[in-house]
Amino acid sequence: MSFSKIGVVGCGLMGSGIAEVCAKAGRDVIVAESSSEALQAGAARIEKSLGRAVRAEKLTEDEMASTMANLTFVDSLGAMEDRDLVVEAVLEDEAVKVAIFEQLSDAVSVPGAVLASNTSSIPIMKLAMATANPQQVVGVHFFNPVPVMGLIELVSSLLTSDETVQRCRDFATGVLGKRVIDSQDRAGFVVNALLIPYLLSAIRMMESGFASAEDIDAGMVLGCNHPMGPLALTDLIGLDTTMAVAESLYEEFKEQLYAPPPLLSRMCDAGLLGRKSGRGFFVYNR
Ligand code: CAA
Repeated sequence: MSFSKIGVVGCGLMGSGIAEVCAKAGRDVIVAESSSEALQAGAARIEKSLGRAVRAEKLTEDEMASTMANLTFVDSLGAMEDRDLVVEAVLEDEAVKVAIFEQLSDAVSVPGAVLASNTSSIPIMKLAMATANPQQVVGVHFFNPVPVMGLIELVSSLLTSDETVQRCRDFATGVLGKRVIDSQDRAGFVVNALLIPYLLSAIRMMESGFASAEDIDAGMVLGCNHPMGPLALTDLIGLDTTMAVAESLYEEFKEQLYAPPPLLSRMCDAGLLGRKSGRGFFVYNR
């Protein structure tokens, strides 16, 4: 039984992308944010991304209009009552996510409804235990930019039911057209456990004066054919998100390769968060 009524909690970089792909696939999507400013920014981000797809001739004007019509923006989780899948995509803060799962567990009344998290690194079990039905809680981890990236990591906790996983797998592949990889419930899952040490190494290399930001990125783009260098990628992901994921990994494994370098920490303190703030390792026109 595929999901038809989707909820997305959080309309930042990831939440807006998740809402966009679900609405583009013809699903009725409710997007919740905590303030009307955040909702307006999220809606504008989705419109901009759809406009880009139209200009690239990947979407027609009519399809863009019907995608926007599938989206409803609300400022309360109470509106999630009739949803059969809710994807949480708020900032990487365990306490905030746990509180949202508690509220969703009370708000969503559809039997068997799945509560999913787009967390990059927080153990799914911690979120599942905040709900009345931990067997219906799962990690569904998308990649940025969501409309472009072809992967979803599916993360089961020790208590997630096979039915929950199978429904998410069918939705991710059959409806959203993504390739699914499965991961155990360990901080960072598969991709970030590999990616974050690479990004942190690039930051340490720059911090130590070993090479410039431009040269580090050019090295990986031109020398290894990566679509973007590690510092530009950190700017795309967001330095705050990179920091939060590194902290979760370090907390879980206590391995030095996951320890955030001081430069990353100081840049987060300074609000130099990457593309979203206009400046990170590079400067962006917003
Ligand atoms: N909707 C639909 N299609 C879009 C689009 C949108 N909003 N935006 C771009 N596209 C399409 C373009 O039309 C283009 O398609 P073609 O190749 O068919 O022409 C393609 O996407 C690439 O777009 P552009 O040519 O405009 O841009 P680019 O070549 O500079 O690529 C990029 C941009 C896709 C971001 C590329 O640099 C890239 O893949 N970077 C790496 C991204 C990455 O690694 N993401 C993962 C981050 S980790 C993460 O997200 C998880 C986490 O937990 C931290």
